[in-house]
Amino acid sequence: MTPEAADALATAPAAYVHIPFCARVCPYCEFAVVAGRDELAERYVEAVVAEIGMSERWRPLESVYLGGGTPSRVAPELLGRVLEALDARHGLAEGVEVSIEVNPEDVDRDLAARLLGVGFNRISFGVQSLDGRVLVGLGRAHTPERALRAVRDARDAGFTSVSVDLIYGTPGETDGSWRATLAAAVEHH
Ligand SMILES: C[S@@+](CC[C@H](N)C(=O)[O-])C[C@H]1O[C@@H](n2cnc3c(N)ncnc32)[C@H](O)[C@@H]1O
Ligand code: SF4
Repeated sequence: MTPEAADALATAPAAYVHIPFCARVCPYCEFAVVAGRDELAERYVEAVVAEIGMSERWRPLESVYLGGGTPSRVAPELLGRVLEALDARHGLAEGVEVSIEVNPEDVDRDLAARLLGVGFNRISFGVQSLDGRVLVGLGRAHTPERALRAVRDARDAGFTSVSVDLIYGTPGETDGSWRATLAAAVEHH
């Protein structure tokens, strides 16, 4: 990448919106999360929308990212209100990338279609590992098979931009396990 291209990327208007809700708190997590309070999601979204409405107007956004926490625990139609508020306040640039972070166990084809329907065009899965023992060690709710099915469902629903997060160096992980995770992630991606 040229220095000019890097500068352009660094100054591209972008918005990150944090969605803190999770089913439970994973033992290794260092993010701002709240477990078992999904009933607050609508009020939270209303507060975010109000805050967006008060923010200084900016150039049309080239990147929007809803991360967490677990945005996939919140109804896509509610998340869509955040996207609408960002569009109304700042505008969305042509070709804007609109990402959502999801937990694999939440995603099936129907949810993926609803996410596309409200405007997301990139989906990022918190897969972490494709070794079942490593996932148990991390306290995760999904299995490798469930994660791969969710990725497939997202692609089948129409997502063309799909990413998977992996965590390297979990206690108990071996070189072989990490290599197998990478190979499976690339093969099924
Ligand atoms: C903020 S998490 C939210 C994603 C989703 N809730 C999940 O856990 O799959 C986004 C990504 O950050 C990475 N990460 C790095 N350090 C982490 C940490 N200490 N706790 C949780 N996630 C971490 C993980 O790969 C995770 O997928
Ligand atoms: S699901 Fe993700 S954000 Fe939530 S507690 Fe676990 S690692 Fe953290």
